Amino acid sequence: MQNTIEVTVGQRRFHVQVTGAGQHILLLHGYPLDHRMWDRCISLLQDQYLCIAPDLRGFGGNSEERFGFSIADLAADCSQILNALQVREPVVVCGLSMGGYVAMEFVERYREQVAGAILTNTRCNADDAKGVATRLETASKALRDGAVAATSPMMEKLFASDSHSEQNAARSLVEPMMASTHPSTLAWSQMAMALRRSFCERMSQWQLPVACVGGEHDTICPPQVIENMHRAIPNSRLHIISRSAHLSPLEQPKAFAEIVRSL
Ligand code: MLT
Repeated sequence: MQNTIEVTVGQRRFHVQVTGAGQHILLLHGYPLDHRMWDRCISLLQDQYLCIAPDLRGFGGNSEERFGFSIADLAADCSQILNALQVREPVVVCGLSMGGYVAMEFVERYREQVAGAILTNTRCNADDAKGVATRLETASKALRDGAVAATSPMMEKLFASDSHSEQNAARSLVEPMMASTHPSTLAWSQMAMALRRSFCERMSQWQLPVACVGGEHDTICPPQVIENMHRAIPNSRLHIISRSAHLSPLEQPKAFAEIVRSL
């Protein structure tokens, strides 16, 4: 089964890719991407998993967000999307970077909907003052100068430099995705990330199986940050994927799919 459907939650309509059959896995994209960043992984997982990959609020095919939102709002959207899809069984929640922040909030708030978690290229700590200031600058740049100006500095940090053909294809998928994100969505999601809470201490109470995944060359969430998160979670495993940077699932989908299967 491969299907992008529209799911209505309150006043919003969400584009959600629903593909495959088996154990349910909820795939949450990073900033400033959309559900298509999971396509390669989905094609490797669909024989064993029902993959549910929404566009988060304001991203991808969804309408522009004119008002602010929080990471908790994005987690609530995910819970309601699962309810609207009549998903009754707990899911593995898998989030990359900003999607990882949403996944952590989802585990905290909707534990009954969660069977396990995969936190990839993300971090459990909140931003420091410098990080918040940078986000405010990026938010104003997006509103003032547009999506390309606000997102292009990020591009060089997303992929490992020893680029191979798969990574080149990934680049050409990601660049237009970033450039077409609504400036207001960029700005509001920067604000949401700036205001997110830390999960590092709360995670010591987590009882579920967790995989903490990083990219060998990730400079946004370096391997050390992933290792710190792994140490904070009792039932977690650490995986650092070689020849990848910030978009490990997109750069090395086979290695990532193996990690999902091993959870
Ligand atoms: C992402 O990839 O989602 C962002 O790098 C997250 C962030 O800015 O913290």
